[in-house]
Amino acid sequence: MTLNEEQLLTNWNTFLDYIKEYITGERKQKLLDFYNKYEERFILLPASHKPQYHNCFPGGYVEHVNRVIKAALQVNQLWQDFGTKSNHTVEEVVFAALNHDLGKFGDFANEAVLPNPSEWHVKNRGEIYTFNTQLDYMTVPDRGLWLLTQLGISVSKNEYLAIKLHDGLYDEANKPYLMSWSPETKLRTSLPYIIHQADLLAARVEFEREWIDKLNNTPVEAPKPATTNSYKQDPKPQIKENEGLKNAMASFFN
Ligand SMILES: [Fe+2]
Repeated sequence: MTLNEEQLLTNWNTFLDYIKEYITGERKQKLLDFYNKYEERFILLPASHKPQYHNCFPGGYVEHVNRVIKAALQVNQLWQDFGTKSNHTVEEVVFAALNHDLGKFGDFANEAVLPNPSEWHVKNRGEIYTFNTQLDYMTVPDRGLWLLTQLGISVSKNEYLAIKLHDGLYDEANKPYLMSWSPETKLRTSLPYIIHQADLLAARVEFEREWIDKLNNTPVEAPKPATTNSYKQDPKPQIKENEGLKNAMASFFN
């Protein structure tokens, strides 16, 4: 997927409008100052560095974050309609969604991903990005929260936990927070679940947009009728079944 210049700018303005509409106090201006200062980096940032992941194209990050914010507002309403306690604010919903993937930015001096210098990987695997090895290793939530501290932007406890836990149980490190069996140690607000669900929804939409039609339109050879000892007659039965996926990958990268 590619976004043209007009789409990139429209998405960027939507992103900034969320800050202007929902964030209050001094952190509103601090966020605007930071995002505007690194405007070019953010506008072109992909949401991931591999085409197999979601929104791996220039502008993919902002497009993804806007979708997560929009989804988070609606998921928040859904949880409240079902009677969960309203013990976090709408500002916290937007702040957490807005900054949940901030760690993908890199740090102030180093971009997290760079154009891939390997022509082979670009041509044969579609890997147009590579990790910037100048950057210290940090998880995306850790780096995002660290950046906010460097910017002097206050983060509420609810926002902190929502950003930290936004990958849910896809991140083993989140287990102590999400797999607690005693009431005292369970999360006190639903915000981390809401941000996780919004992120999951957005990433799924982005995956389906990129892949489902390609996969479904690729003819897959019907499997041969099973015969006794057929595994002995065809020592590599899985190769033919994988042809469809191979063709899909080839059409994507060409
Ligand atoms: Fe995300």
